[in-house]
Amino acid sequence: MEQYFFIPGRYPALTLAEIISAFKEEGLLYDLLLFSKEAAVFSVNGLSDIKTFSGKLGGVVKSGRVLDEILFSDNEDKFNYIFTAAFLKEKGVLLNSGKIKFALSLYQAGADAEIFSRLEKKLTELHVHLKDNLKSENIKAGFIRIKNRQTQSVSLVKNSVLKSGFELSLVASAHSLFVGRTEWVQDFEGFARRDFYKPAKDKRSGIMPVKLARMMLNLSGKGESSAVADPFAGSGTIILEAAIMGFSKIYGSDISSKAVGDIRTNLNWLTGKQANVNLFVSDVARLSQKLQAQSIDAFVTEPYLGPPLHKFPTPEGINRLFRDLTPLYRAAFTNFRKLLKKDGRVVIIFPAFILSGRLKLFELGPIADDFEPVHLLRELKIAHADITVRGSFLYRSINQFLIREIALFARK
Ligand SMILES: C[S@@+](CC[C@H](N)C(=O)[O-])C[C@H]1O[C@@H](n2cnc3c(N)ncnc32)[C@H](O)[C@@H]1O
Repeated sequence: MEQYFFIPGRYPALTLAEIISAFKEEGLLYDLLLFSKEAAVFSVNGLSDIKTFSGKLGGVVKSGRVLDEILFSDNEDKFNYIFTAAFLKEKGVLLNSGKIKFALSLYQAGADAEIFSRLEKKLTELHVHLKDNLKSENIKAGFIRIKNRQTQSVSLVKNSVLKSGFELSLVASAHSLFVGRTEWVQDFEGFARRDFYKPAKDKRSGIMPVKLARMMLNLSGKGESSAVADPFAGSGTIILEAAIMGFSKIYGSDISSKAVGDIRTNLNWLTGKQANVNLFVSDVARLSQKLQAQSIDAFVTEPYLGPPLHKFPTPEGINRLFRDLTPLYRAAFTNFRKLLKKDGRVVIIFPAFILSGRLKLFELGPIADDFEPVHLLRELKIAHADITVRGSFLYRSINQFLIREIALFARK
């Protein structure tokens, strides 16, 4: 088994669930060794290419293989050895004979605060130490200066660090330091391009972040051979990601014909073709008349979440919103039930709020009676503020009153 580290973006719990779903989907055996809001370390059996695997994910910003683990109880020489040409040659990191650029990043994953603070202070010294050691071996090296303790992906790409140099990602756990080599960073430009430059958008009905769409598709645990559908497709954020991921059948529908037209425009902009994407206008309540029974592997969707909120709603306002949305969710789940294959999944968003410091979740009542919630992280017994009592995840956007709750269901 090889060990790998993953650095999540702003949504660590959801990202952990996404990684685990992707492991399961690929039939990989894994063991979670470490998880914090800054890093996750797994040992995985049979992962052939960390770059291809990570490239599918929406929540991870950096990943790579673990080269070594140094216990804090080991002697100092062992620790210092990491920052030498000899170690890097031994691990196959140093292959290039020309001038190289390197970077170091430090992530907190359970280390004692005092130990971590010492490591953090030592970071500048370690950069210099490594540079000098490389020089003594006739390797000219420069390093990326960092303000905090982490090198941003943008700097790694701009300076070709991963191509013609290296980054060591140091993940500090309670007892040890995992020394990883960064092998992949997220295609931040690609995600930003799809977030900001899609030609057709409908700001009023709300557009979801592209990375969230990607994470939700991965949460479904379904692979390329599957049929996915988004019946509240809006301007098509989920549909576009599904097209990039290569799902074999994709169904996008919306009650608004403008939305369906927008998706067509956006798909043309993205791929120049509509290939395996089937778009149509439909009220979700009538969806089972438009699609074949038991033909869908996963519904991945963000329903209408109510009118835009310009101020924080009152408790009565929240109750009213939940009450108003209930028939829509009921209609959606009734149709999902008819259309899903036996092992089908639903990945769906509900509105949630923090009211007087307490989380107020949408009341499901009998809406999803034919479904059971899937708690992806249940066996791992992880506590995190973004994991709800029903095993779903909170996605909190800056400057938004409404919190998105991301929930996964299986057909009973
Ligand atoms: C929050 S938006 C989805 C946005 C989408 N995820 C995106 O990123 O563009 C909800 C969509 O649900 C559609 N909608 C509302 N009621 C519907 C219904 N009864 N059946 C189908 N679609 C509906 C709206 O037209 C809107 O486009």
